[in-house]
Amino acid sequence: MKALVLAGGAGTRLRPLSYSLPKQLIPVANKPVLQHIVESIRDLGVTEIGIVVGARDTALADAMGDGSRYGVAFTWIPQDRPLGLAHAVRIARPYLGDSDFLMYLGDNMLPDGVAGPAAEFRARRPAAQLVVSRVADPREFGVAELDGEGRVVRLAEKPRQPRSDLALTGVYFFTPAIHRAVENVTPSARGELEITDAIQLLIEEGLTVRAGHYRGYWKDTGRAEDVLDCNRHLLRSLRPRLAGHIGEECEISGAVVIEEGARVLRSRITGPVVIGAGTVVEDSHIGPDTCVASHCTLRDVQLSDSIVLDGATLSGVRGLYGSVIGRHALVTSGEGTERHRLLVGDHTRIEVAA
Ligand code: TTP
Repeated sequence: MKALVLAGGAGTRLRPLSYSLPKQLIPVANKPVLQHIVESIRDLGVTEIGIVVGARDTALADAMGDGSRYGVAFTWIPQDRPLGLAHAVRIARPYLGDSDFLMYLGDNMLPDGVAGPAAEFRARRPAAQLVVSRVADPREFGVAELDGEGRVVRLAEKPRQPRSDLALTGVYFFTPAIHRAVENVTPSARGELEITDAIQLLIEEGLTVRAGHYRGYWKDTGRAEDVLDCNRHLLRSLRPRLAGHIGEECEISGAVVIEEGARVLRSRITGPVVIGAGTVVEDSHIGPDTCVASHCTLRDVQLSDSIVLDGATLSGVRGLYGSVIGRHALVTSGEGTERHRLLVGDHTRIEVAA
């Protein structure tokens, strides 16, 4: 079996971060989403991984390499424009050949792994095996309607009146039967070639499409709130490791990772927290639920429930929470207390205290 990871897409919901960084590289628990996904595919024993990326995107390949450091082999598959998930399967055909494959949306996190549905697919080999998860409000999702034996009888995309509460997660298993189906779909109302339409064609052809339940934590990290939620979830199982320098007047509690070369002075760190390599934290209170990446500087900062990317500088800012701070961003206090000065990029979101 091969794997196909979809890491193209526009990422509009994660602007402005996605302007300069593919959303699949945003770190959760200090590791890019795509790395979490690659490791979970490898855990299924699948080592040949094709990754669909935007045609002009070199950042993913630059960051992830050829896969050897994760014990797998990557093949990068450029997609001219994000024309839909079924389009991504179309252009991956030369790579996939006649192999069965696992398709994984590159922004979906299923940290408890999909070993169950994978084993079911390998044992029964239906034309397609979807991974579904029970949700409170299915109207936001692709929804699968099943018969009593776990066969999918119908799929509906964001239905107003859902006939089941089983949402499609971002993981699918396919036999080569999907290739004919993706050739036969036409653009949907939103102008994309939809994978749900291709799977519906399989059902209409009389082929077997099954659904396997995933009962663990699942998140589509398409929005900043989701990235933070996923970060909080993964940090619950953080294993503490103090490799950097911790000065005498520090108070460290809970699960905390201080990476090599980091320096923490006169500060309180309330885990779970990760302080990345080479980062300096002084006179600050960090945590809980916070990850600071590498080579950042935090002085006189109070920060919780947040993700700070590489090289950012925060100084003299208190009460920061629920924030995602981009690479090399600068957040400081200015002169006086009444006025604010902002240099704000396109589609940036800022909330200041009233
Ligand atoms: P989405 O999150 O549905 O789409 P998007 O990335 O364009 O995001 P937004 O809605 O915020 O603009 O895509 C799911 C995953 O599939 C994501 O990792 C991107 C990837 N993808 C492709 O690789 N090719 C495509 O044509 C599309 C639509 C998505």
